[in-house]
Amino acid sequence: MRLLVTGGAGFMGSNFIRFILSKYKEYEVVNLDKLTYAGNLDNLKDIEDNPRYSFVKGDIADPKIVSEVVPGVDAILNYAAETHVDRSIMWARDFAVTDVIGTLTLLEAVNTYKIPVMVQISTDEVFGSTEKGVFAEESPFLPNSPYSASKAGGDLMCRAFLKTYSTPVIVTHSVNFYGPYQYPEKVIPLFVTNLIEGKKVPLYGKGLNRRQWIYTEDHCRAVDVILHKGVAGEVYNITTGDEISNIELTKQILGELGKDKDSIEYVKDRPGHDFRYALTNDRLQDLGWSPETSFTEGVKKTVAWYRDNEWWWKKLKDAKYQEYYSKQYTER
Ligand code: NAD
Ligand code: DAU
Repeated sequence: MRLLVTGGAGFMGSNFIRFILSKYKEYEVVNLDKLTYAGNLDNLKDIEDNPRYSFVKGDIADPKIVSEVVPGVDAILNYAAETHVDRSIMWARDFAVTDVIGTLTLLEAVNTYKIPVMVQISTDEVFGSTEKGVFAEESPFLPNSPYSASKAGGDLMCRAFLKTYSTPVIVTHSVNFYGPYQYPEKVIPLFVTNLIEGKKVPLYGKGLNRRQWIYTEDHCRAVDVILHKGVAGEVYNITTGDEISNIELTKQILGELGKDKDSIEYVKDRPGHDFRYALTNDRLQDLGWSPETSFTEGVKKTVAWYRDNEWWWKKLKDAKYQEYYSKQYTER
């Protein structure tokens, strides 16, 4: 099988490429990535010489480059996106272009080159925030940030192509990922690396917002199952059900690194900050998937990885980055 993975130089795309090349010894992977600030070829250093892997630098919203890499692949896995909610509050347009127009460009190519299936990697954030409920695959979209609105736009384009042209596309909605190679802007790698550097961790508001979490490998296993056993045209939620508030999560990370609550700095809240996301995952369970890594175990592994791999993240936390993160929202 020949797979096109877009956004394969990012956090989860690179983990998926590594997972799939190791599990299926005959599979080939082409990685199409624009190499934005979040794309990093260091994420793939251990596989860059693998003869079954190739890299193409390019934009998923560019029909020309897409028409060069898509013909002949057996599946497209669209991991490429602008992904960070805080950045979307400042640079919404970039999000709309990649997450909506980029997805549309790939869908057009699926039709033109009759690609058997495209898997759209999307998020629970499209459903909006819920204090107590859980979202199923059919729940209505109520996105609240420019990021989640852009992802919802891409997902709705998938639905429209399915209904209008019978385009074989599967949409996945996942809870928060964490693990090795996650860019240190997301809460877990930001907090872990700050603490290793002896800095404080900026907790938004009162730290009461809640998220569900999934470790990298469990997400790779879920996408693998969906790619091979999922039904084209279907939507699948991906969650472990592991839910925790940000303050509880912070305390767990502090504990792993031998720090106490003095390392917490409560900062101005994110504008429009979604309180809680939560999903059901019955369809994924029906495909035979269940999580293997608990949140406690996953956090331990993640902290150990960042401790052992300063070469990877130190240079990402350069002066420009420090300047950005030292400012509060109103100043950014
Ligand atoms: P990331 O930000 O780590 O990486 C994104 C990658 O996409 C980068 O390599 C970047 O260079 C590339 N990219 C961005 N714009 C591009 C474009 N126009 N053309 C080609 N490549 C482009 O992302 P991630 O956290 O690994 O997320 C991967 C996917 O999973 C995204 O679609 C995201 O919306 C979704 N998702 C993420 C999470 C999470 O917790 N991080 C949870 C649910 C869903
Ligand atoms: O739910 C899935 C989504 O999870 C993905 O679709 C997004 O791509 C991904 O970025 C993530 O969005 P979140 O906003 O949930 O992730 P983030 O790591 O930015 O924040 C997690 C929680 O931690 C959130 O409630 C905000 C809070 N936070 C975050 C940062 C960066 C802080 O308290 N301080 C921080 O410095």
